[in-house]
Amino acid sequence: MAVTKETVLEALKDIQDPELNRSIVELGMIQNIEIAGTAVRVTVALTMAGCPFKDQIKEEVRSALLSIPEIEEARVVITTMTSEQRAKVFGNEPSEMEGMKHVKNVVAVASGKGGVGKSTVSVNLALTLAKKGYSTGILDADMHGPDIPLMMGTRERPLGSGGMLMPLEKYGVKLMSTATLAGDGTPVIWRGPLVNKAIKEFLGHVSWGELDYLVVDLPPGTGDAPLTVASTIPIAGVIVVTTPQKVALEDVRRSIALFNTHDVPVTGIVENMSYLKIPGSEETMEVFGSGGGEKIARAFKLPLLGKIPLDPAIRQGGDSGRPASLEEDSDAARAFEEITDNFLNALKT
Ligand SMILES: Nc1ncnc2c1ncn2[C@@H]1O[C@H](COP(=O)(O)OP(=O)(O)OP(=O)(O)O)[C@@H](O)[C@H]1O
Ligand SMILES: [Mg+2]
Repeated sequence: MAVTKETVLEALKDIQDPELNRSIVELGMIQNIEIAGTAVRVTVALTMAGCPFKDQIKEEVRSALLSIPEIEEARVVITTMTSEQRAKVFGNEPSEMEGMKHVKNVVAVASGKGGVGKSTVSVNLALTLAKKGYSTGILDADMHGPDIPLMMGTRERPLGSGGMLMPLEKYGVKLMSTATLAGDGTPVIWRGPLVNKAIKEFLGHVSWGELDYLVVDLPPGTGDAPLTVASTIPIAGVIVVTTPQKVALEDVRRSIALFNTHDVPVTGIVENMSYLKIPGSEETMEVFGSGGGEKIARAFKLPLLGKIPLDPAIRQGGDSGRPASLEEDSDAARAFEEITDNFLNALKT
C-alpha cells in the first residue's frame, strides 16, 4: 500500500511540542509532506527561531517517519513559522519587540575590528552596572563567536515558555546568547536575509522583564551584521571599543561613520589594552602606542569613556568565567568602574 500524507500525519500526531505540550500536527507545525516511493521529506515549522527543542523535535519526527513500515528514507527540514502562522497558534501574536518592552536602556558595544576586547568590555560593564544596583542584562549578539556564556561561566541552555525564551542569570545579571540559535559548536553563517530575519525574531522573543540596562555585545566589523542588530533594537547608546594602534583606529572611524549614517547614537569610546603596569613598580608601558583613543574622541567629538590596562587578570577573568571586575579593589575593577560612571554621565547629557 502506498504511503499517503494521512499516513504520515497519523504517524506524527503523538509527537508533542515540549514547550506547549500540544501535538505538533495540531499546532500546524507540519507544513509540507513530500512522498516519493519509499522516501519522505517533511518540513516542520518551529514556533520561533532558536527554539531550544529544535534537535529533539527533529529527531522525534525522523524516527516516527521511519517507523512507517513502507518508509526507508526520511528527511526532516526545519523552518520557522511566519508571524501569521504563529498568531493562529498563540492567538494574539506578541508584538515584534515584546520582550524588550520593559528594558529602559539598551547599550550596544561595538568595534570595527575583532579581538579588541568588545566582549570583555560588555561583560565587565554589565557586571559593574549590576554592582551599582541597576537591574542589568547582557545579550550576546555576536553570532560569529558567541563568547559571553564562556566569559560569564555558564553553559546552561535557556528554556522557552509561551513562545518566549527565558534568559539565564549569573552574578546577578540576566544573560542570553545567540549561541542558542545555533546550538553548541555549530558554526553560524552570518549572511543573507534569512539570518537577518532569524535574529530579529530571536531578539524580540527574549523575556528580559524589567531592566535598567541591557548591554548588547554586537558582532565585530563594519558590515551588515552589527548594523542589523543595532537597527533592530532601539539603542540608547553605542560604546565603541578600540586599541591604541593605528590600524585599529581606522576601523573605529569606519564603525562610527556606519552608526552615524544610520542614526544609531554613539555615546563614547573605550580604549582597551592601553598600557601595561610594570609589576612591582609605578611605571606603565604603552605597548601599542598612545593617544589613539583621544585622537578619535576629538575627531568625532565623542567622550573618551576610559582606558583599560593590558592586564593578565582581565584575560584570566574571561577565560575562567569570573570576570575581573568582580574582584573588588583591583586595577581592572577600578578601570571598569570609571568607564561605567563616565558612560552613565554621557548617556544623561
Ligand atoms: N585589557 C585586557 N588585558 C588583557 N587581556 C585582555 C584585555 N582585554 C581583552 N583581553 C583578552 O583578549 C582576548 C580578546 O578579547 P575579547 O574576546 O573581549 O575581544 P572581542 O573584541 O570580543 O573579540 P571577538 O571579535 O573575537 O569577539 C580575550 O582573550 C580577552 O580575555
Ligand atoms: Mg567577542
